Amino acid sequence: MRLKDKVAIVTGSGRGIGEGIVLRFAEEGAKLIVNDVNEADAKSVVEKVKASGGKAVAVIGSVASREAVQKMVDTAIKEFGTVDIIVNNAGITRDVILHKMTDEQWDQVIAVNLTGVFYGIQCAGRVMREKGYGKIINISSTSALGNVGQINYSASKAGVIGMTKTAAKEMGSKGVNVNAIAPGMIWTDMMKSMPPETIKQMDAMLPYMVPMNRKGSPLDIANLALFLASDESSFITGQVIFCDGGMKI
Ligand SMILES: NC(=O)c1ccc[n+]([C@@H]2O[C@H](COP(=O)([O-])OP(=O)(O)OC[C@H]3O[C@@H](n4cnc5c(N)ncnc54)[C@H](O)[C@@H]3O)[C@@H](O)[C@H]2O)c1
Repeated sequence: MRLKDKVAIVTGSGRGIGEGIVLRFAEEGAKLIVNDVNEADAKSVVEKVKASGGKAVAVIGSVASREAVQKMVDTAIKEFGTVDIIVNNAGITRDVILHKMTDEQWDQVIAVNLTGVFYGIQCAGRVMREKGYGKIINISSTSALGNVGQINYSASKAGVIGMTKTAAKEMGSKGVNVNAIAPGMIWTDMMKSMPPETIKQMDAMLPYMVPMNRKGSPLDIANLALFLASDESSFITGQVIFCDGGMKI
């Protein structure tokens, strides 16, 4: 087991990529804090982990709240004794072409995708620094390189890369690895909620845009997160690994 008895927090893990990461980590022996704003989804993921013999606890709340993120860390310590791994995965989109974007759409995305990751790095990072061990994995996006209709989202995801590199430089000497994953097109509810016409166009373009000629699955991201959470990657820090079927080669 690659994460035997490690304690991991995964934000936004009631469905999609986060759920995939929780289930994969649980298979490898980790104890999990399952966070989401959606209580029913978080609890259902906890039940799935328990049904397969693992350990998990739900913490409901938004990563945009420092108190909620601190509660995830406090609950991990209370229930499982420590925090070894945090995956800052929770993220939202509010896609609008730049000249029509409202302040509210900008602020919502920055609060969750950027400030939420800052809180995760800081609150979990304090415990990790103290004990001289930790793995921080931040979920960025290929959109960090720019994408039409996503000025808020791409700014937040590029910001996640800057935070990853800074945190890696600050915490390397404390035994903490900090890396980012930049997923490409991953077939989750986030993608499925796009207008059907956009999905149709993307499917038609897939062979030209993605060398591997398919959309990714949560398991594709979960397997990479597992590698970065394990000691197999102990000399890797401050990196952004694109998991996108070659879309951004
Ligand atoms: N799906 C893709 O193609 C894709 C591509 C690149 C990056 N990503 C990133 O991967 C991450 C996961 O995306 P996904 O596709 O699984 O999305 P998703 O919408 O399917 O799932 C996201 C989960 O996060 C939860 N969430 C939303 N806001 C939250 C908050 N404030 N606090 C806590 N939880 C919250 C949602 O309730 C949901 O369960 C996101 O950061 C996203 O930006 C996704």
